[in-house]
Amino acid sequence: MLKLAVLVSGGGTNLQAIMDQIAEGKIPNTEIAVVISNNKNAYALTRAEKAGIPSVCISPKDYESREAFNDAFLSAVCSYEPDLVVLAGCLVVIPEKMVAAFPNRIINIHPSLIPSFCGTGFYGLKVHEKALERGVKVTGATVHFVDEGTDTGPIILQKAVEIKQGDTPEVLQKRVMVEAEWQILPEAIRLIAEGKICVKDHRVIRQEEER
Ligand code: GRF
Repeated sequence: MLKLAVLVSGGGTNLQAIMDQIAEGKIPNTEIAVVISNNKNAYALTRAEKAGIPSVCISPKDYESREAFNDAFLSAVCSYEPDLVVLAGCLVVIPEKMVAAFPNRIINIHPSLIPSFCGTGFYGLKVHEKALERGVKVTGATVHFVDEGTDTGPIILQKAVEIKQGDTPEVLQKRVMVEAEWQILPEAIRLIAEGKICVKDHRVIRQEEER
């Protein structure tokens, strides 16, 4: 059984996509052990509660320092002994100690085709604003392993999404979520659950799907 800790900060639509696909049997031998949010108002926590999934909020506001928060955040994650940590709309900078504790066992969904529009400062709606500003015709989403950098880890899956004339950042964000994020994040978890992913020289190697 692949045990997941899903880290969230906002609406939780990516969490919902994972929950739905587990419920529909599309991700075998996998369970969400806990949903952890840094934001007590995250609707993602409500989604977890409705599904009967343990959830907890670890807020930086409750700690004297970032260091103390990082330690509490890491110990909360470790206490559930996850096999895989999934950042699903998580806006917390993942502490180095957490990356070290889970080498190639933390995955993140980023709303662009990395290496475009990623790195420090590129998150949420800002990513789509920059894509529209640059005038690219295609964008999309990326699932990658988390390493010590920002959006620099080995890429697992990507999916392209067409930008349409007149798109606003909000319209584009929703299309990228529906057509890409909510597809490739559960798919990446399925591939990992089925042992079809390994990392070699900082690149993801996929065991070929059975014909
Ligand atoms: C999504 O656009 C995701 O790409 C980004 O955070 C946003 C919110 O996602 N990382 P969710 O609805 O909280 O899953």
